[in-house]
Amino acid sequence: MSDLLDAGERLGREELAALQLERLRATLHHVYTRVPFYRQAFDEAGVRPEDCGSLADLARFPFTVKADLREQYPYGLFAVDRSEIRRLHASSGTTGRPTVVGYTQRDLDTWADVVARSIRAAGGRPGQTVHVAYGYGLFTGGLGAHYGAERLGCTVIPASGGMTARQVQLIQDLRPEIIMITPSYMLTLLDEFERQGVDPRSTSLRTGIFGAEPWTEAMRREIEERFGIDAVDIYGLSEVMGPGVAQECVETKDGLHVWEDHFYPEIVDPVTGEVLPDGAEGELVFTSLTKEAMPVVRYRTRDLTRLLPGTARVFRRMEKVTGRSDDMVILRGVNLFPTQIEEIVLRTPAVAPHFQLRLTREGRLDALTIRAEARPDASPDQRAEAARAITAAVKAGIGVTVTVEVVDPETLERSVGKIKRIVDLRPDH
Ligand code: DLL
Repeated sequence: MSDLLDAGERLGREELAALQLERLRATLHHVYTRVPFYRQAFDEAGVRPEDCGSLADLARFPFTVKADLREQYPYGLFAVDRSEIRRLHASSGTTGRPTVVGYTQRDLDTWADVVARSIRAAGGRPGQTVHVAYGYGLFTGGLGAHYGAERLGCTVIPASGGMTARQVQLIQDLRPEIIMITPSYMLTLLDEFERQGVDPRSTSLRTGIFGAEPWTEAMRREIEERFGIDAVDIYGLSEVMGPGVAQECVETKDGLHVWEDHFYPEIVDPVTGEVLPDGAEGELVFTSLTKEAMPVVRYRTRDLTRLLPGTARVFRRMEKVTGRSDDMVILRGVNLFPTQIEEIVLRTPAVAPHFQLRLTREGRLDALTIRAEARPDASPDQRAEAARAITAAVKAGIGVTVTVEVVDPETLERSVGKIKRIVDLRPDH
């Protein structure tokens, strides 16, 4: 294995820290001289790039948040001349303005390198075939995975999302070893394999690289078992790069190694913004170390996780993301994440791994209904028992009372990309 590692992955911890500091200082200098937004933010905070004499000094610099990207839409945070930009991507922008990100040719090369490194960490090798079912287009998933797979020396099937029946056909005919897809869309493919009468364990697939949304250990077991593959986690976000910011290694499956030679992580208290020590749970914050077109300084991801020491790689790991602070439901004072419900639904025998959370208001109180789909062979008694079991497990494990409806098979909407777990029916939402 070690002969497959690239130069960055072979660094020792001290060499890595030295490289990070050098790159961090260059990034701070780059944004201070090129981006009025950062110059003003640093000036207001009373810090200058030269003040960063150690990695810990980064804590003295101001945060960047999603609203800053919106306000600077479209090009305000770009640090190079427009003629240097080779690609743009954008977030969907379901609320308010979208956000746009840009890449120079060198940024695109770096991105391909980190995704190639991610696919290799997942067990992929040159010469293999990768089926990319992340959406192509403004979303970073499809094209990010695509160029990384080519960089590693793989054959790419650029399937994109949707046309599920054809995806199953392509997998059978073209015989890819690797699939890159959201975990929720993989479950949609599972239904389609079964509908076509094809055993999902009989395919050429050996590895699945799943990301773009939170998923649990229970979901990993479900997917690994039903498809007979290794399922590993890939993380990223467009503001920082796209997929390939962090990746789980197949040999350990113990959280995601952050590609720290390019993206410097911090964990902060989501309320006070104070930097927390490794091991403590909080909000993940990233500073890009090598980006040219649109570097980010202390970008608050709103994703909640912990930083842990490296295992299969020198880089620190981040624990599987529990959820985004935005997806947290506060129900009668209790915080709840969709991933907690996923764990419970997936260990309940008579229900399928498809569920939806519906938020309503009853009087002045918010109420949550979990809709979970029955497995096709579940009897009415088993369905009733499943509803009772989920209700009891939520009460015991999370501490709130919810309503559970076990609905007929194939009645909940299926995902073709990032799944939307929460349907908010409250009057003011
Ligand atoms: O989702 C990039 C990506 C594409 C990652 C394909 C992995 C695979 P955005 O659309 O900007 O970018 O959304 C980023 O998605 O802040 C997380 O909340 C969530 N997310 C991404 N990967 C994971 C993951 C892409 N592995 C936002 N686990 C992030 C949990 C994830 N959440």
